[in-house]
Amino acid sequence: MHNVVISGTGLFTPANSISNDELVASFNAYVQQFNADNAEAIARGEIEALSESSTAFIEKASGIKSRFVIDKDGILDPQRMVPRIPERDNEQWGILCEMGVAAAKQALERAGKTVADIDGVIVACSNLQRAYPAVAIEIQAALGIDGWGYDMNVACSSATFGIQAATTAIQTGQARAILMVNPEICTGHLNFRDRDSHFIFGDAATAVIIERADQATSKHQFDVVGTKLLTQFSNNIRNNFGFLNRAAEEGVGARDKLFMQEGRKVFKEVCPMVAELIATHLAENQLNVSDVKRFWLHQANLNMNLLIARKLLGREAEPHEAPVILDTHANTSSAGSVIALHKNQDDLPAGSLGVLSSFGAGYSIGSVILRKR
Ligand SMILES: CC(C)(COP(=O)(O)OP(=O)(O)OC[C@H]1O[C@@H](n2cnc3c(N)ncnc32)[C@H](O)[C@@H]1OP(=O)(O)O)[C@@H](O)C(=O)NCCC(=O)NCCS
Repeated sequence: MHNVVISGTGLFTPANSISNDELVASFNAYVQQFNADNAEAIARGEIEALSESSTAFIEKASGIKSRFVIDKDGILDPQRMVPRIPERDNEQWGILCEMGVAAAKQALERAGKTVADIDGVIVACSNLQRAYPAVAIEIQAALGIDGWGYDMNVACSSATFGIQAATTAIQTGQARAILMVNPEICTGHLNFRDRDSHFIFGDAATAVIIERADQATSKHQFDVVGTKLLTQFSNNIRNNFGFLNRAAEEGVGARDKLFMQEGRKVFKEVCPMVAELIATHLAENQLNVSDVKRFWLHQANLNMNLLIARKLLGREAEPHEAPVILDTHANTSSAGSVIALHKNQDDLPAGSLGVLSSFGAGYSIGSVILRKR
């Protein structure tokens, strides 16, 4: 069995950002128009009036202040409230491929690797733009990588599950190095007309190079000490969009074909599961929570992360112990914990222990224990 390291990370951030104030102004314009258009039916009690959203609620409930997006104008247009992302000719690289390649190039550079060193590409994300061919194979072609590629989807937990898959392939000698990519256009599956969730997501792509320790040369290496995964079925985060929709015309375009969640239930059920999984994982590796210098947690909700860190540490976490990128990026699904890792690793001295953890729909939870080299 070969020892495995993460030797480079990369991040692509879209150019445009939407503040809470901008998002709320667009949402409230939609609500006012809807209520005016339906005033008589609302007065008769046939339709329920819509309520306005508020910046103060969003920031208090989630910790999100703004989000980067691929298309700002389409989302903020109260007549549309959907990003406008034109279709591309099949001969052009797709948008997920383009974002993934940008993140991958940065990860390769930080790892000090060329495409000739990579044997496999895993795209691990929530929001694939098509069924096939795999986006991973498209990224493989765009970068000129030999070997193989495949896509996998474990929702917000995709990155840690992807790291586990890559680690196993490298340990067993199937690959020398693997590029794992998380391209997420979460705004494509977000219902911007839903007051409960219109503020939650943003867009980003991250990339991670996972390789054999004895071949790694970068200054940014972490030993993969261990990986642990857990899934437990739940309908509390669900999206029924798929190719069977056309076989049931009655459901086409219905609310459940976009992201839906029971946010309160998710909060209550997932936080204890994450804290327990990480604590168990550390104990199985003869490590204590107090040995861990940094928790790079999935970035869905600030209060969730504060609670998980408090459950683990038995006290409030210092900001540097569980860094937050949610305020500027919002929830970028599988990319979130990797963005936290990418932006918060260079200050750690050699030997420092960290835990990368993602969690979300499924439910699914992943924990990756890392030690800075
Ligand atoms: C979604 C989430 C931020 C909502 O926060 P919350 O504190 O649970 O808020 P609730 O949905 O219970 O709503 C509280 C109140 O605010 C209101 N509210 C909801 N959205 C609002 C908005 N945009 N603006 C103003 N008020 C709003 C609700 O109607 C409710 O009012 P009520 O008390 O009169 O019924 C939170 O539950 C969450 O993040 N959960 C975890 C989600 C998660 O991680 N999902 C994983 C996705 S991958």
